[in-house]
Amino acid sequence: MTGVKNKTAIVTGASSGIGEAIAMHLAEAGANIVLAARRKERLEEIALKIQQKHSVHIKAVETDVTNREKVEQLVAEAKDAFGSVDVFVNNAGVMLLSFLKNDHVDEWEKMVDVNIKGVLFGVHAALPTMLEQESGHIINVSSVAGHEVFPSSSVYSATKYAVRALSMGMEKELSKTGVRVTNISPGAVSTELTEHITDEEVIENFKNRKMTPLEPGDIARAVTYAVSQPDYVNVNEVIVRPSQAKK
Ligand SMILES: NC(=O)c1ccc[n+]([C@@H]2O[C@H](COP(=O)([O-])OP(=O)(O)OC[C@H]3O[C@@H](n4cnc5c(N)ncnc54)[C@H](OP(=O)(O)O)[C@@H]3O)[C@@H](O)[C@H]2O)c1
Repeated sequence: MTGVKNKTAIVTGASSGIGEAIAMHLAEAGANIVLAARRKERLEEIALKIQQKHSVHIKAVETDVTNREKVEQLVAEAKDAFGSVDVFVNNAGVMLLSFLKNDHVDEWEKMVDVNIKGVLFGVHAALPTMLEQESGHIINVSSVAGHEVFPSSSVYSATKYAVRALSMGMEKELSKTGVRVTNISPGAVSTELTEHITDEEVIENFKNRKMTPLEPGDIARAVTYAVSQPDYVNVNEVIVRPSQAKK
């Protein structure tokens, strides 16, 4: 699979931030896009936006990635509409940072459900078709928090280490099947991700943060790079961090 022109790309968490940008960039590269997330209206707006810029086919499928049947249905609808599943971007995620002592146990559970189980359900739903096709590309969005742990990121990092471990295992298990695997680890990116944090101590710390984050398109370009390589090139790991100019 060289390039994604006329291929089918499913992007989870496509209703905002990095997922929206990945969808836009893959459409620009000529892929037919299936947008997935829970907020259907946002998906419809984004579908329209993409359609106005690029002449590819777009479908929006309301999907909760924590629901196995819904993710199976997402892949089935994509296949019905466009005939194949060539790229599956496991991007949906939540980052509910909190200090362990503050015991945000419901949020720990939510992160495990969305960030780990959601990715597993994506693999479960998309991989059989890709194996049958003997081609495909699974992109898992981890994080630099999947490479290092900082105070308040213990549980979030645990989920993102898990995503990276899955990517590493998949890459080895699938290397001779025609299915490629890329783990993308973004550093700080300006999105809605931090808006859902409820731990007041973390929110206070964020106010003092001085770094300039990346834009979602900066991560989308890394995805486009990985998927547009020739078939025999498997880009397994990309880390993209903001770079600060020296003052
Ligand atoms: N921004 C960063 O600094 C950063 C850094 C490293 C890694 N990441 C990772 O990048 C990915 C995208 O995050 P973002 O920064 O673009 O944040 P975002 O703007 O908040 O996007 C998160 C996306 O995930 C979706 N989502 C959440 N729960 C879901 C569920 N149960 N089912 C389906 N979709 C769900 C949201 O859509 P709905 O609410 O409509 O369902 C939304 O589209 C995440 O995996 C995140 O961990 C982000």
